[in-house]
Amino acid sequence: MITINDNYLKLQASYLFSDIAKRVAAFQENNPDKQVIKLGIGDVTRGLPPACIEAFHKAVDEMADDSSFRGYGPEQGYDFLRNAIAKNDFKARGADISADEIFISDGAKCDTGNIQELFAKDIKVAIPDPVYPVYLDTNVMAGRTGDFQNGRFDGIVYLEATQTNGFVPSLPEEEVDLIYLCFPNNPTGSTISKAELQTWVDFARDNKALILFDAAYEAFIRDDSLPKSIFEIEGAREVAIEFRSFSKSAGFTGTRCAYTVVSKDCRAFDSQGNIQKVHELWNRRHCTKFNGVSYPVQRAAEAVYKEEGKAQTAELIHYYLRNADRICEEIEALGYDYDGGKNSPYIWIDGRTDSWDFFDMLLNKAGVVCTPGAGFGKCGEGYIRISAFNSHENVDEAMARIRRELS
Ligand code: MLT
Repeated sequence: MITINDNYLKLQASYLFSDIAKRVAAFQENNPDKQVIKLGIGDVTRGLPPACIEAFHKAVDEMADDSSFRGYGPEQGYDFLRNAIAKNDFKARGADISADEIFISDGAKCDTGNIQELFAKDIKVAIPDPVYPVYLDTNVMAGRTGDFQNGRFDGIVYLEATQTNGFVPSLPEEEVDLIYLCFPNNPTGSTISKAELQTWVDFARDNKALILFDAAYEAFIRDDSLPKSIFEIEGAREVAIEFRSFSKSAGFTGTRCAYTVVSKDCRAFDSQGNIQKVHELWNRRHCTKFNGVSYPVQRAAEAVYKEEGKAQTAELIHYYLRNADRICEEIEALGYDYDGGKNSPYIWIDGRTDSWDFFDMLLNKAGVVCTPGAGFGKCGEGYIRISAFNSHENVDEAMARIRRELS
């Protein structure tokens, strides 16, 4: 008899963004003439930077010719891209990361979801609430939780991020082994200072724990005093893994390219308490289950680090941040409390009502799609998230419609 992994039955209905897409599709079917403006899922809307397109085309042409054709590439990624990342994203900011500590992949979603495979089933996992649902769901799938009760899974240590702590969770009071952190945060848009992040690194060192640091939104940091990488923090090499993506920084959501940084000093322990190198384990997993990102995509990603690429991606980020400013101004004028939007493409709004009701009201009355905060965890109830990823025109129109409905 073929039996399933029962842990999948514990999962809550469908994945958050599939749920939203279904509601939007139903609305569109009933209102075919209404133009829906999507400020829900954080999906970019502008074309790829010209420098990336040029490199992409050139690499596709190389693939057409026997003399320059490439078959399987290195699973960890081509050196040209790993070197460019190490130099520009880490060494330039004083973070000691070398090219062979960078693993190129097709997405931070996959990497943040897959990484937990390396760790024992009985570890204690700490996950922020609210947060990107992938961290929790993949640990549920792996069987690290009990049942779902009162909006929480038994066995998980929830790190509450609320208005009281400025949406930056406090250190856990109990022992934990694996800690997920995401800054700038998805969904709240909150950021963490170097001093605060240092306390997490120290905690991980003191407690033989490991931090999974999701920095997918680092490109939106405008305040230069904030860390873009956990490797800017002393002592992080041994106790942290970082996830980055070209999705939001260079518009690669449909192109797919990301990377994970596992330093050669990163350590975990086997069941006998002996130190094991996580770099070797992740390398083993990557080589077994992944065959590399396509050559043209890696060339397109490399172009992000050329002079024109840097200027064009900066302009792209600036464009979306202008939307974020616009959304913040409007929400403030309407008298709602909000966080984020300053160093993040997400604006986290206290809707003062059930977050799915608020979502339905905005969709049905204004034809605007947001993301209900409850989909990111119990602490997200009452909030909605608005994303700045859209054109200036659509954001202006969406905010005008919201103003009409809410004022
Ligand atoms: C989000 O809207 O939270 C993200 O776009 C989802 C993702 O990156 O997978």
